[in-house]
Amino acid sequence: MLLLNNLGALAVLWLAIPMVRAGHFDGVGLAVILLLALSSFEAVQALPLAANHWDKSMAAARELQAVAAARPAVAPPADPQPMPTNPHLAIRGLSFTYPGAQRPAIQELSLDLARGERVAIVGPSGAGKTTLVWLLARFWDCPPGTILLGGQDIRAYAPEDARAALAIVSQHTHLFNATIRENLLLARPTASQAEMEAACRQAHLHDFIRGLPEGYDTWIGEQGVRLSSGERQRLALARAVLQEAPILVLDEATANLDALTGEAVWMALTGVMRDRSTLVITHRLTGLEDMDEIIVLRDGRVAERGRHAELLARGGLYTRMWSQQEILQ
Ligand SMILES: Nc1ncnc2c1ncn2[C@@H]1O[C@H](COP(=O)(O)OP(=O)(O)OP(=O)(O)O)[C@@H](O)[C@H]1O
Ligand SMILES: [Mg+2]
Repeated sequence: MLLLNNLGALAVLWLAIPMVRAGHFDGVGLAVILLLALSSFEAVQALPLAANHWDKSMAAARELQAVAAARPAVAPPADPQPMPTNPHLAIRGLSFTYPGAQRPAIQELSLDLARGERVAIVGPSGAGKTTLVWLLARFWDCPPGTILLGGQDIRAYAPEDARAALAIVSQHTHLFNATIRENLLLARPTASQAEMEAACRQAHLHDFIRGLPEGYDTWIGEQGVRLSSGERQRLALARAVLQEAPILVLDEATANLDALTGEAVWMALTGVMRDRSTLVITHRLTGLEDMDEIIVLRDGRVAERGRHAELLARGGLYTRMWSQQEILQ
């Protein structure tokens, strides 16, 4: 392209200089003609670059199409039921095996989470805690009649309605390469600035955001790389608070925070938990004294259940986990 451009300019000079000599037009005219020739190439200069982008764009389009055409693991019901406003969550004899897995990830789990109640699920790694969250979020299909929301099988609701009733802070938060504001508003696009700030205050994030030069309009990068993992987690928490869903599910929501911040966020969360039902999944056995029930999972089965004091008195797995934690602190 550059070669053609320069050859074009040369050709113009080669043709035009004799014409200037012959007095057909003056030196200024020569400059104008030369610039015209050079600038006429500008319009087509981007074309080789466009050809370059074409391949990349087509590859991206193919990937997007594959995502758009993928069939979700969960099919929506033919006649979705309306979601009640404050649904009671009940799990009845839930067993689940991942496709192709040898043993079930969850076996015969039952629990009740009434309005305003708090239930904790603890247990060693691989016990099936996150699997339960994915089942609640309808990423996998549960057997009929095992998860009930508002007395109805969760499978009777549209999957997105079920997801809207649950605010989930997952173990692996997903953040978009956008501003803090945009990431927060995903939870509730109609939220006002004041509501957004209130949610951030509850997640102990507001002061941090105010300290940024661009505040809520700060870009956080791909997957939030420009934030620390604790800040990412608190952003996910603020987003869940903003969603105002009746049921809050926290999967290791304070795991990446230092002890002091973790404590502060936990204190703030107890305020949030007061007016909704909360399922807390954690390996940190702190602040569980106020839980209505603690379920200890091991290999997908309920190893023991009860309140904090009862479990400590029993001297089982919970006591062992508790004393190990005490040693570490
Ligand atoms: N997508 C999957 N496909 C197949 N097996 C899976 C899948 N996800 C998890 N598992 C298996 O299911 C079991 C329970 O995993 P899960 O993630 O629920 O554990 P967890 O209790 O959340 O553990 P952690 O405390 O480490 O987060 C594990 O044995 C795991 O290997
Ligand atoms: Mg997990």
